[in-house]
Amino acid sequence: MQALTFTADLAEPGAIERLVAAIAAEGRTVDALVNNAGYGLPGTYIRTDWREQQAFLQVLVTAVCELTHRLAPGMAERGFGRVINVASVAGLVPAMPSHTLYGPAKSFVVKFSQSLHLEMLGKGVHVTALCPGLTYSEFHDVNGMRAQMGRIPQLMWQDAETVARAGFAAVEANRPMCITGWPNRVIVALARLLPEDVVMRIARRAARRLR
Ligand SMILES: NC(=O)c1ccc[n+]([C@@H]2O[C@H](COP(=O)([O-])OP(=O)(O)OC[C@H]3O[C@@H](n4cnc5c(N)ncnc54)[C@H](OP(=O)(O)O)[C@@H]3O)[C@@H](O)[C@H]2O)c1
Repeated sequence: MQALTFTADLAEPGAIERLVAAIAAEGRTVDALVNNAGYGLPGTYIRTDWREQQAFLQVLVTAVCELTHRLAPGMAERGFGRVINVASVAGLVPAMPSHTLYGPAKSFVVKFSQSLHLEMLGKGVHVTALCPGLTYSEFHDVNGMRAQMGRIPQLMWQDAETVARAGFAAVEANRPMCITGWPNRVIVALARLLPEDVVMRIARRAARRLR
């Protein structure tokens, strides 16, 4: 088996079109797409530059939609495909202050994946939103939150391989969503079951601790 690598800055206009054209020029088709690229944008919304917020939406939302839109039709035609959209528990619980568009972007990815999952039923194309919680990676180094996040108990953290394996199993089983790790499943279940004002009171307290 031969691996080809292509690099692209997904925030750049036209990057995805060029990427897909480069793959086609090599005579390759794409059977599996993992929309994984993402990062956090610290700071409160009004103190951030709009261009940074725009680039963030481009990478976390628009690129996910565009790559899928360009590659999923071929999967459907060939009767086989796998799409994992890496969302987050953050898309399923109340949003926190700072990283203002992160939760909304991940909620979008969950809803988008659910819709596409249903559209692709019976076509051999499986679509899953992968919702990890805190995962050891470079994410919190890149956004400068390592020190604050280090205060969160180890029980809440997973390693990237565990998350990736859970995502692979879920897409193979054609599950629309996969929340990794029991602590994350408990948090999401509570956020769904408790009344909104209780959830928001808990969120407010947690937000104070994170500041
Ligand atoms: N870590 C967590 O606690 C956590 C929890 C829930 C969900 N997630 C999600 O998991 C996914 C992977 O994050 P991670 O934890 O593995 O973080 P990571 O180690 O920082 O990896 C992020 C990846 O996204 C790529 N990326 C960022 N901006 C890009 C751009 N403009 N164009 C192309 N690629 C770009 C990075 O590429 P370069 O290295 O080349 O910049 C890197 O490969 C993200 O969608 C994140 O939101 C993470």
